[in-house]
Amino acid sequence: MHAKGWLLAGCLLLLLPGPVFSADEEAPTIPRETVCLQCHGGMEGRLGAPVGLWKQSIHRQNGISCHDCHGGDPTDFAMAMSPERGFRGAPEKAEIPAFCGRCHIGVKDDYLASKHGRALGKGGPQCVTCHGNHAVVKASPDLINDKDCTRCHSFERAARIKAALADTDHIISGLESDLADLRRLGISVKKMRGEVFAKRNEFHRLFHTVDVNKVHQGTAAVQKSLGKVATEVAGIRSDLSQRKLWGGIAIVLLLVAGGLCLLLRRTYHDEEGKG
Ligand code: HEC
Ligand code: HEC
Ligand code: HEC
Ligand code: HEC
Ligand code: HEC
Repeated sequence: MHAKGWLLAGCLLLLLPGPVFSADEEAPTIPRETVCLQCHGGMEGRLGAPVGLWKQSIHRQNGISCHDCHGGDPTDFAMAMSPERGFRGAPEKAEIPAFCGRCHIGVKDDYLASKHGRALGKGGPQCVTCHGNHAVVKASPDLINDKDCTRCHSFERAARIKAALADTDHIISGLESDLADLRRLGISVKKMRGEVFAKRNEFHRLFHTVDVNKVHQGTAAVQKSLGKVATEVAGIRSDLSQRKLWGGIAIVLLLVAGGLCLLLRRTYHDEEGKG
């Protein structure tokens, strides 16, 4: 190819929308092998079961392993479960909110102040009643269902909370998939993703108050912040379609210019030939 051809190809490449790789790809943090996993993985029954269940959990996906919850030394076979190395063992039912709440502080506070929290140890549910212990998955309003919520009382009050959560949950999932689309196009959405993630957590936490009025108040505030992100996403979308349009026009112009150059050059060569 001539120099001009290379130049043209270069120009065309520059006009392609955005880089093809993602600007803020994060590597997943799968926990390393530990002595806890090695020893318990080879056991049967109640001592081995947690390993398989945990493997499917959101905790594993986020690098939270046995010792992060139970304490102990994950590098030393002999001392692994020694209290000297911080081993906590398995918590009693009434201790579970404090056990999980070391990391989920906001949830723990909302829960303890709620009617559920105040009934802890007196027939009320705790974290594991609703989320399970080892196979904890991403939280969603599906956890509020006829089967799990009618073990202690009627579903009627559960249904009112679920309805109060449904709309916002829909907005959040919509935004999450919009941001994933933009990210695939190579646009950095880290800040917006951070905001949606924080609002998502704030929102999903509201449930633990089990108080319809508090859920309504919190929902209004969360929806306002989400609205701002939605506006930003819409702005980027329209920028992108304009960029595509102008990119297209520029390509056509370049092609025309390239054609003209070739023509000019040919005429010039022809004249040279004649002269
Ligand atoms: C060498 C094998 C071995 C290793 C290593 C090991 N465990 Fe255990 N674990 C056991 C056995 C056996 C039991 C049951 C007897 C007991 O409670 O001491 C047990 C019991 C437990 C229990 C239940 C305790 C209770 O109160 O019922 C937990 C929780 C636990 N292990 C977590 C861990 C964690 C976390 C680690 C790593 C820091 C770990 N284990 C490392 C063999 C092991
Ligand atoms: C998210 C925190 C968390 C993680 C991570 C976790 N556990 Fe547990 N584990 C618990 C809780 C809470 C209980 C008490 C469950 C209950 O009473 O329902 C428990 C109970 C246990 C028990 C006692 C089971 C019984 O039936 O007596 C064992 C054994 C155990 N865990 C081992 C493990 C091992 C091995 C791992 C890693 C694969 C692990 N746990 C990871 C929270 C966790
Ligand atoms: C050592 C810290 C730690 C402990 C202890 C812990 N978690 Fe987690 N948990 C995390 C992290 C980190 C995540 C992933 C980030 C996030 O989603 O907040 C997570 C995620 C979750 C989620 C999903 C949240 C979502 O975004 O949908 C639930 C539900 C959950 N944990 C429940 C529990 C329960 C129940 C316990 C106690 C049995 C527990 N956690 C103990 C650290 C912890
Ligand atoms: C009565 C059932 C119930 C109990 C008890 C309960 N949760 Fe939840 N939890 C839910 C439901 C339902 C959602 C999701 C609500 C939604 O989608 O808006 C949720 C959401 C969550 C989330 C996601 C929100 C966030 O901040 O990331 C975490 C983490 C969590 N729960 C942890 C806990 C912990 C820790 C406890 C104990 C202190 C607990 N839950 C007690 C039902 C429960
Ligand atoms: C282990 C038993 C148990 C389970 C399971 C349970 N609850 Fe409750 N719930 C209680 C108790 C105890 C109270 C407080 C006493 C009362 O009002 O009856 C309560 C109260 C409530 C209230 C009223 C709060 C208020 O301020 O008036 C709501 C709403 C509620 N629960 C929703 C749910 C939902 C949703 C689920 C399922 C995700 C659920 N509960 C699962 C035991 C339970």
